[in-house]
Amino acid sequence: MSRPGSPSPAACAPAQLPPVGLPRPRVRQIRWITADLQEAWENEAAPPCPRAKAALHDSLWHSLATEYDARHLSAFLRQQPIALSPAFWAMERAWAEDEANHYRGLSFLYARLYDVSEAEIAARLSERSPDFSLLAPLLCDEFCLCVVLAFDELASTRAYAHDAVSYSALGAAARLLLRRMARDELLHCHNTIDLLVRTQARRLPEAKAVIERVIAHDTSPQFSYRATFLLDQIIKPEITAESTDSNPYNAVGLSVESLQDCGRRLIRFLYRAQSRINPC
Ligand SMILES: [Fe+2]
Ligand SMILES: [Fe+2]
Repeated sequence: MSRPGSPSPAACAPAQLPPVGLPRPRVRQIRWITADLQEAWENEAAPPCPRAKAALHDSLWHSLATEYDARHLSAFLRQQPIALSPAFWAMERAWAEDEANHYRGLSFLYARLYDVSEAEIAARLSERSPDFSLLAPLLCDEFCLCVVLAFDELASTRAYAHDAVSYSALGAAARLLLRRMARDELLHCHNTIDLLVRTQARRLPEAKAVIERVIAHDTSPQFSYRATFLLDQIIKPEITAESTDSNPYNAVGLSVESLQDCGRRLIRFLYRAQSRINPC
């Protein structure tokens, strides 16, 4: 019996080239630097609210860890036998830069809020190893990989936009960071959609089934986050950096309804982009 979320082998296909005459996929990126956070942190008049600091610790640690894990996904993709197009790698390069920047920003914030060095944070995170064994069947070709990535980035956008309200109690640097990360995650989602529509438009009708498999996988009792960057939105709200939970990667997540709504929204985005880019 196949695992929930495993696509049939027939669903996998080689990387696609854009049809002749169609413009190359766009990669939109807005660069910013952690020094901006330093300025906001130093100019803050009041110290962060202690209750907010305690309440948001787990959420901040989880975001920090998952942003760190982007390097695991990059390394995994480079080792895979699946064919990924030059356009995919152009998008991935900007994505990886942004995710590394998110990690640096969250590390800056966590270190100052909880009085640990950034070197110590990096050392603790580097003790973990990723495990893609359950996730790999969902990433069997460029189309499926991009649908999963676009879905994940949209869910991250929603999570950061939601968190921005509570993080505002941590001061201007936290507010700025959450706002910029949410903006970047949405750009990542749209860059991936642009790539999908320009290179694999004929497969768009398959996207709904891929998303359904992803949500079934993400919400199945067997699934747990394993430092893979993708699908960190699990439905189990506990774990801290110090937790003794048997799974060191468990983290805060979104509700099933929220994930399903992200899926529906992604489908709408895909077809809206399709009608803009490939009007028939
Ligand atoms: Fe990110
Ligand atoms: Fe992202």
